[in-house]
Parts: sequence; structure tokens; C-alpha cells
Amino acid sequence: MARKPFIAGNWKMNKTIDEGIALVNELKILVGDVADVDVAVCPTFVALAKVGDAIKGSNIMLGGQDTFWKESGAWTRQIAPSMLKDAGCQWVIVGHSETRGRFGTVDAELESVLSYFGESDTTVNMKAKAAFAAGMTPIIACGELLAEREAGQTDQVIVGQMKIDLAGFTKEQAMKMVIAYEPVWAIGTGKVCDSDEADRVCGLIRGVVKDMYGADVADAVRIQYGGSVKPDNAVELLGKPNIDGALVGGAALKSNDFAAIIKAAK
Ligand code: 13P
Repeated sequence: MARKPFIAGNWKMNKTIDEGIALVNELKILVGDVADVDVAVCPTFVALAKVGDAIKGSNIMLGGQDTFWKESGAWTRQIAPSMLKDAGCQWVIVGHSETRGRFGTVDAELESVLSYFGESDTTVNMKAKAAFAAGMTPIIACGELLAEREAGQTDQVIVGQMKIDLAGFTKEQAMKMVIAYEPVWAIGTGKVCDSDEADRVCGLIRGVVKDMYGADVADAVRIQYGGSVKPDNAVELLGKPNIDGALVGGAALKSNDFAAIIKAAK
């Protein structure tokens, strides 16, 4: 089955509202005529509504960078799925390694533990289900740490994450979900994962989906690669059979680079 490529830009904690609007206005000119690739941008929460207004009527879709799973209540700081939907989001990233982590005591002064704030596979799964319930589609991120890769645990880590992250969806939801394989050591480091290895892990993920939801879902589901995707490595990565798109960080902040990656997916 031909899967439509999907390139999403995760802006992380970058771009003011005006900068975000300027970026999407440039993108509309550069990729406004691209119909055979799905394109989304994921600005910060505070920029969502205005950036969403700026892309209305275009082929660029809007995504949130995270969501809470509760719909309302006394949850200071949190954003409900229905609020993201209300701001115009069709997509929401859940389980990004920068929000994921292992619960435990953290010393917030230590830069090295900042990535350990966060969530478990169970909460990633709850967020994904809440996103579906609100009428959005989750982009469910997974990935191994460098220490896990070096210890030969990559496959076991990824399979373990996926079995919990993807549990309990309806078949229809599972068909629509997007998975992003983002090896943590490749994010923002310039160390892109070897394309054959990225393809192999994405194939492993597809196998888990097959075990959980059947061959038709595994065949339909889109799996993105993320981690130092740039215009000069995008063609090679996106040409691999199990890689159906990219979740792009740094290179999504420059319109020309992001447009080049989108064009590489065509
Ligand atoms: P970089 O493209 O900056 O490595 O970030 C990848 C990422 O984390 C996207 O979610």
C-alpha cells in the first residue's frame, strides 16, 4: 500500500507568535502547491491559535507539542486535548523524549536530568487516547537512549515502549495513528541514525503494530523518523521502505530547509 508521506515540524520552544506567522507565510509560498505530502507545524501552545489562523485554507496543518489527558479541572499548567482542537490542531505529539522520562527524584539544577521530567508509557498511551477522543490524531514518539543502544537494548526498549504506548486503540484509530521513531541520541546532535538502521527499527515497529492490530493496520500506519533530519539527508532517509515521513526539529525552523525536506518526500 502506498502511504502518503507526512512531514511534521516540531518547533519545540522556539519562535514568538510573529516569528511563527512569518515562518508559515514563507512556507505557504514554498510548499503551497505540494499535494502529495502531508505537512504540519507544531508551534508552542501560545502561538497555536495565531499560527493556525495564518495557515487556514492552506495545505499546512497544525499540531500541538503535547497534551494532558484530562478534559478540564484543577490542573495548573496543563492543556486539554479539546483546547488544542479548539485552537485548530489536527495533530498532537505525545511521548516526545523531551517530555518523556522516568518518574523519580530530579535535581533541577542539573542539565543532564532535565530530560527526565515527565511521563511513562502509560501516560503516553492515555494522552494518545485522549487526543483521539477529542478528534485529533496523535503522533506517538518513541526512541532509545544512547546507553540503551550501546548496551544492545534498542529493540527491546522500542518494543516495550510501543506495546504500552499503542495499547487499546480501536482498529480505526490504529490505522490513523502516526508513530515517530526518534533515537534520543540523534535529536539535536547532528548525529543522524544510519538510514538502513532507521529503516530496520521502523520495520520492527511495524511488526509490533502487526502483532497488535493486524497486517492491514501495519500496512497503513505511517512511521516517521526523527533526529537530525536535514535537507542533505532527507532523500536517503525518506527513500527507505519503512520510513513514511519525518518529525523535524531544528531544520523546521528555517522555511527553506523545511521546504527542501518536504520536497524530498515527494
Ligand atoms: P532535530 O531535528 O533538531 O534533531 O529534532 C528532532 C526532534 O526531536 C523532532 O521532534
